[in-house]
Amino acid sequence: MRILFVASECYPLIKTGGLADVVGALPLALARGGAEVRVMIPAYPGVIAKLGDPVEVARYAEVFGGPARLVQGATPEGLTVLALDAPHLYDRPGNPYLGPDGRDWPDNARRFAALGAIGAAVARFGAADWRPDVVHAHDWQAGLVPAYLSAAGEPGPATVFTIHNIAFQGLCSAHAFDELGLPRWVFSPAGLEYYGQASFLKAGLVFSDRLTTVSPTYARELRTPEYGMGLEGVLNERVDALTGILNGIDTHLWDPETDPLLPATYSARKPQGKVRCKAELQRSLGLHVDPDALLLTVVSRLTSQKGLDVVLPSIPTILARGGQLAVLGTGEPALERAFVEAAASNPGKVATTIGYDESLAHLLQAGADAILVPSRFEPCGLTQLYGLRYGTLPIVARTGGLADTVIDANDAAIRAGVATGFQFAPVNAAAFGYAIERVFDVWSDRRAWKKIQARAMAHPVDWQASASEYRALYDDVLTHRAV
Ligand code: ADP
Ligand code: GLC
Repeated sequence: MRILFVASECYPLIKTGGLADVVGALPLALARGGAEVRVMIPAYPGVIAKLGDPVEVARYAEVFGGPARLVQGATPEGLTVLALDAPHLYDRPGNPYLGPDGRDWPDNARRFAALGAIGAAVARFGAADWRPDVVHAHDWQAGLVPAYLSAAGEPGPATVFTIHNIAFQGLCSAHAFDELGLPRWVFSPAGLEYYGQASFLKAGLVFSDRLTTVSPTYARELRTPEYGMGLEGVLNERVDALTGILNGIDTHLWDPETDPLLPATYSARKPQGKVRCKAELQRSLGLHVDPDALLLTVVSRLTSQKGLDVVLPSIPTILARGGQLAVLGTGEPALERAFVEAAASNPGKVATTIGYDESLAHLLQAGADAILVPSRFEPCGLTQLYGLRYGTLPIVARTGGLADTVIDANDAAIRAGVATGFQFAPVNAAAFGYAIERVFDVWSDRRAWKKIQARAMAHPVDWQASASEYRALYDDVLTHRAV
């Protein structure tokens, strides 16, 4: 089976969050099951340079204001990538979505309509003698792929659309829509029109054969006004097409036994290396080197979704109980400032790094004892999965994929030997504070802690089961298309 992924990010070529990790890892897992997958992404600066054996496989004279071409190559991991090279749209430094003023690029509609249009062209006509059976588009940036395919009319390949985060909907004005080369009928309430604007995300939802999101709980939550962000009606109409399939992680890239980014490696059976990682992490961040201080970490975008504001009032409790906090993140200035100030007022106990740092993310996962993920909503979440794998117990809000991947260390779960972390609800400072008290209570019984840690490290977090679910979905949609 041939599958074309279309997305705006793919690790290790370009990454701002979990979408890149999924688009980089799931195709490799599908390939292990015998599928042939190619991934189309925009050629942001540096993308083509990172590809092995790049070859031009298609040229387009005019794509929304300039020429474009498709360059095919491979990542070091062996993933085949189609990079959409359109310098007038993508040759811009920094974050792929935001200009230097921190706001969306004003031509984002055209930039990601180009991804949709060329994605649809490859779906219909192929590239380099390769034509997909299924097109799998991800998030709003690829939402127009199924719209261009529907507009083309004739039966093309089957389409699957995955919602990674419904908060980002890719809205543009009716005027901007008029320049995208789609027929007017598409701009309707039954199509991609959303309160007078065009929604790229809604296009994905209404024009794809099947819809998925990245955890079973989020698939249910999305159908409610609390989580559906205005699209719950559309999702309820398409409930028969919607499934939740949990994300996995790349267990080769994220493996404490072999991770080249760590000062020492370790495993559940040989955990000594984790002690060295902790000491090295504390030393390098200027924290007191103390194996008995419970070291909590955060690796996150600092946005309201991630709920990190509820952590701030608990910092005095964490420190009073002898704990430490190490934060890595970037995002809203007020949150950045609050964590920077917490570090400045608590030298040796709180360390804050503002920025994006893949190596430090690995070291934090290895060296910390627990990772905080207090999200208000979380479609899946990957950092708690990295935490499980690295024996860094996740302390998570009971929502979305966090609820589906972490087993709370309540008394029954501890007695049954199944606990892997801590859950709390609702997302507020009080509930988080109670959770922190529980965490310190378990930490004070180091044998109990180590048992939970061993369970966490044994919890399956790889892609195998979920890749099989995607494969079954592709098979199913193709069978139904053929009838
Ligand atoms: P989201 O995609 O909503 O940001 P996920 O938990 O799915 O959340 O994925 C986040 C990914 O981004 C993880 O791979 C995490 O390690 C990484 N990440 C987030 N912030 C940073 C940062 N400041 N530095 C390095 N990696 C980060
Ligand atoms: C989104 C979600 C996150 C999910 C990631 C990958 O960014 O916020 O929960 O893990 O996509 O699917």
